[in-house]
Amino acid sequence: MDASWWDDAVVYQVYLRSFFDANGDGIGDLAGLRNQLPYLSALGVDAVWLNPCYTSPQRDHGYDIADYLTVDPSYGTMDDFRALVADAHESGIRVLMDMVANHCSDQHAWFVEALASAPGSPSRERFLFRDGRGAGGELPPNNWQSVFGGPAWSRVTEADGSAGQWYFHAFDPGQPDFNWRNPDVADYFDEVLRFWYSLGVDGFRIDVAHGHFKQVELNDWPGAEDDSGGHNYDMWDQPEVHEIYRRWRALGAEGPGEEKYLVGEIWVPSLERLAAYLAPDELHAAFSFELLVQPWDAARMARAVRLSLDQAKRTGTRQAWTLANHDVHRPATRYGQQQLLEDALPTDMIAAARRTGEADLDLGVRRATAAAMLQLALPGSVYLYQGEELGLPEVLDLPDDARQDPIWLRSAGAELGRDGCRVPMPWEADAQSFGFSPAGAAAPWLPQPPVFSELAVDQQDGVAGSTLSRFREAIRTRRDHFDPDAELAWLDSGHAELLAFTRGASACVVNFGDTDLALPTSWSAELVLASAPISVGGDVLAIPANSAAWLRIDRVAAASAGPVQADGVHQDSPFPLLESTAP
Ligand code: BGC
Repeated sequence: MDASWWDDAVVYQVYLRSFFDANGDGIGDLAGLRNQLPYLSALGVDAVWLNPCYTSPQRDHGYDIADYLTVDPSYGTMDDFRALVADAHESGIRVLMDMVANHCSDQHAWFVEALASAPGSPSRERFLFRDGRGAGGELPPNNWQSVFGGPAWSRVTEADGSAGQWYFHAFDPGQPDFNWRNPDVADYFDEVLRFWYSLGVDGFRIDVAHGHFKQVELNDWPGAEDDSGGHNYDMWDQPEVHEIYRRWRALGAEGPGEEKYLVGEIWVPSLERLAAYLAPDELHAAFSFELLVQPWDAARMARAVRLSLDQAKRTGTRQAWTLANHDVHRPATRYGQQQLLEDALPTDMIAAARRTGEADLDLGVRRATAAAMLQLALPGSVYLYQGEELGLPEVLDLPDDARQDPIWLRSAGAELGRDGCRVPMPWEADAQSFGFSPAGAAAPWLPQPPVFSELAVDQQDGVAGSTLSRFREAIRTRRDHFDPDAELAWLDSGHAELLAFTRGASACVVNFGDTDLALPTSWSAELVLASAPISVGGDVLAIPANSAAWLRIDRVAAASAGPVQADGVHQDSPFPLLESTAP
């Protein structure tokens, strides 16, 4: 396999709306990101992934696209976009965009046209319109539920004012699903991809990449109404979806320039199903969510690493590790919450990664930094979510009237949704909106909590031992310590709570316990980097509680790379966590 830039890249996810506001409207923008490229260079990242910045009514903050060929005016102009790509490339940073092709916005020209057209017309064929059930068509065509809550169908009013057909939306009613069995749709997206590639974009993160096709007959799924029917296999992961990725893979290799990169957000119930997306002529990578959904537990984390690496080996691909994104609670909060191991095998990622409740943030940040060092030591690429490098917490106490996530709105407040991980970044402790916007600007689109002051970039920049400094050093030196091609071998430290492995001449150890743990003296380990203060001296190197260290080791008895057993871990399914889909 030839090496590609993405094999071991560190990709920084930019939630543009919340990164940096250059024009003072309280919303992050392209010019703001461009201003802060030096920050990203100093962090040492290889690429950015931009959450959708296309023209959108922002019902789901850009995951509802009205025009795929322009940027949203609130983010800037096409010239801003071109300038951003040029400067990023100049700084050696590649640019990935987000391709949302399962659905568009209800304000997309095609959907507007479909609504104005008669049932059965070609315009409606680009979406999933169906007649309702019941005498007057007053019931949805089937019992499927949307990911954001409530029925996955909405009824339209026909041009003559009568109650009409229903259309399918896997997410919000403002996000109608395309009918990918209609050839117009595939042709359209070829054009969209080519357009952004022609502007220098280096690849795409593919949103709900297991979506796109639904089972042809759209039959009821038993138990779908109250979620008692388990994963709805008819709504996701249909065999035809692979055709899209074969097409896009070929398109991305057309040139000019280097091959374009495709990484999928895929939630399927087994590794075998996931592997199908990673065939040599489909996606280059799929996010590995296994670490993200684990509690702070050595055996669980080790098992997640092992399963993910087994899968990578089988498919001949590299893992795309991640601990955070714009859909889940931030790691500093998750790891600072009481660990409920009995709840650690949820049926979906929401339960694992969107728990509420008290958090000890000092402990959470300490563990999150250690977890970051763990993933940065693993073979493959790493996706960091903006603010992770500052140790930002989830903002769980946003005022109700500030919340905007459709999950919050559609559940009538029963679920907090995802606003708490999307709060604008703090850059300067003493500036208005912590430096997110210029002086005199509008208030940030989501209010920032007081704790952001002490976590602001200017409080951590150049400060030894700050979270930012630790992330920078780990990102910038990982390739010096861990050769991208070096395989992982597990080490037995004699402590159940100490996860340890080597890759080449370096080792990574993570102490998941609450007491310091001494490494075996036979390891002759020399400390390279640590996620927390560590005292070196004497014969014994002890790894502090809740921390990670990178070591250089001369002599080591590498343990077998056999299965890691953990009490209570399901052994029957390799992917117990992926029972259902989630945004
Ligand atoms: C994205 C979410 C989005 C959903 C619908 C997800 O997978 O990451 O943020 O709400 O897709 O597009």
